[in-house]
Amino acid sequence: MGLFTRDIKTMEDLFTHQLRDIYYAEKQIVKSLPDMIEKASDPQLKQGFQTHLRETENHVKRLDQVFQLTGQKAQGVDCPAIDGILKEAKEVAGEVDKKTVLDAALIAAAQAVEHYEMTRYGTLIAWAKQLGYNDVATLLNQTLEEEKATDKKLTSVAESQVNRKAA
Ligand SMILES: [Fe+2]
Ligand SMILES: [Fe+2]
Repeated sequence: MGLFTRDIKTMEDLFTHQLRDIYYAEKQIVKSLPDMIEKASDPQLKQGFQTHLRETENHVKRLDQVFQLTGQKAQGVDCPAIDGILKEAKEVAGEVDKKTVLDAALIAAAQAVEHYEMTRYGTLIAWAKQLGYNDVATLLNQTLEEEKATDKKLTSVAESQVNRKAA
């Protein structure tokens, strides 16, 4: 379903489209995190990525539940935004030589991912409530809280140690 093929007629359609978009995004993030775990040197950062990989796998499962609750087949749709963020992350990481600087770059990339997710979930929750999908809103909010907590953790790892070691 493309944005410009006029397949989106109702708010329900728009909700489903955005659900498919984040479903694809979460799956791409699951694929990308192992590489980030491997590249991270700071033990707390590595650990943080590992924890978030498990959480992200669970985000996919929650979305499966959301599709079920809204009577939709679980399916993704290409999301050029997340592809771009992940591609850039990979490119920048590939150009950083020093391990301490690489950690700072990985955090910056990961926070771009978290913020993308936060904006998508924020919108989906508002739309779910408007459409009367209160159970769905509750599920999506659990994920949003984990994205926010991850973002905060990344800020704290950056500001407490990684940025100083990199500078
Ligand atoms: Fe997520
Ligand atoms: Fe995330």
